[in-house]
Amino acid sequence: MAKIQKIKGFADLFPEEAAQYTRMEAVAREVFGLYGFGELRIPVLEKTELFAKSIGEDTDVVGKEMFTFPDRKGRSLTMRPEATAGVVRAFIESGVHQPGKVSKYFAFGPMFRYERPQKGRQRQFHQIDAEIFGADEAQSDGELILMLRTFLNRLGLTKLTIELNSLGCAECRPGYRQALIDYYKSKDRENFCEDCRRRMDTNPLRVLDCKVPTCKELVKDAPVITDHLCPECEKHFADVRAILDGAGAAYELNTRLVRGLDYYVRTCFEVSSSDIGAQTAVAGGGRYDGLVKNLGGADCPGTGFACGMERLALLLGQAETARPDFYLAVVDEAAANEAMLFAQKLRDKGLSGEVTYGSGSMKSRMRQANKTGARVCLILGGQEMADGTVTVKYMDDERDQETLDRSLYLASL
Ligand code: HAM
Repeated sequence: MAKIQKIKGFADLFPEEAAQYTRMEAVAREVFGLYGFGELRIPVLEKTELFAKSIGEDTDVVGKEMFTFPDRKGRSLTMRPEATAGVVRAFIESGVHQPGKVSKYFAFGPMFRYERPQKGRQRQFHQIDAEIFGADEAQSDGELILMLRTFLNRLGLTKLTIELNSLGCAECRPGYRQALIDYYKSKDRENFCEDCRRRMDTNPLRVLDCKVPTCKELVKDAPVITDHLCPECEKHFADVRAILDGAGAAYELNTRLVRGLDYYVRTCFEVSSSDIGAQTAVAGGGRYDGLVKNLGGADCPGTGFACGMERLALLLGQAETARPDFYLAVVDEAAANEAMLFAQKLRDKGLSGEVTYGSGSMKSRMRQANKTGARVCLILGGQEMADGTVTVKYMDDERDQETLDRSLYLASL
């Protein structure tokens, strides 16, 4: 019969790889805890309109990449393509917000985007996400970026580039938008790619970030946002930079950085590495002050980021897996039941390890014991069964092996 295969762009993570993910999550928990963040677990499935309203109808994510389908009653649902929209929805729905209160959440989990899979790009991928609600001050952006940097450093990732920009606000962005539209008008529209010809009218900032070489060339001399910021946005941006400068956190200003999601205002940033192929961004984020209100909540500012775990995994070496304490080798079938019960007693004492099923040759058992990296190999054969003993082979030790009374051995542990 034909094998059933997994869906394109979806991956299985076997223990060695899963261990990397567990480690990333453990380090994130530890670091985010230092900054007062609490974990929020949100659903994988949401109403489609949540993403359309927050990420923006005209973005690639909403326009082309969502896993959207009707449920049994014909309601349109979407597998979350990112965490922010769901976190904001949960935050609003919970009613926890009070004026002046700051709330900090982190969330882990799978996200879904119908993109062309390649190295570092999956259709099901995982994010580590962090969000701050209730602070419009630049210090919260600075704190967030420092937290992201601390997290990445603790994972051992230090050779990363932080790119930073300000996207202005409702006051100053319209002027910049118009300046861009005027600039594009001065160019031959036909020379832009098809997507950019459309974006020029709907989302002119996104043209700046197009990867098509002809578009890149055309926008080389386009006006830059930082020349159009209002005094408040300018001050805000200067404060974010001052915090990063003060902490010695290196970053590059990139006035072309616009991000692919529509909710951003003011600060936006991306962290990238040139060591993982074409998909270089390992994390991205920014401020989204109007989003909570847009989704029906209070006028509450927000800022956050998300890291892509698949991309971090490409940068990290294989996670060290813990060595098991024992490998219990059954070399006589008559000992199989007793061995299972003995292994249970070892585990009751908190020791980790495997016990073999059935019987096998001593040679193959020892080979297997070596492979697992166990500290001791315990052998139960016919003689040990008859004598109530166990043979203990110390895998790291010169002492070859000794045969001990089973109960006394247990009691000595
Ligand atoms: P984003 O830039 O769309 O931002 O995604 C964040 C990170 O998720 C990317 O930098 C990348 O590492 C990873 N990522 C995205 N798509 C894929 C994919 N198809 N395969 C593998 N990894 C991927 C957001 O999602 C925002 N919600 C971040 C944010 C939080 N902004 C404010 N708060």
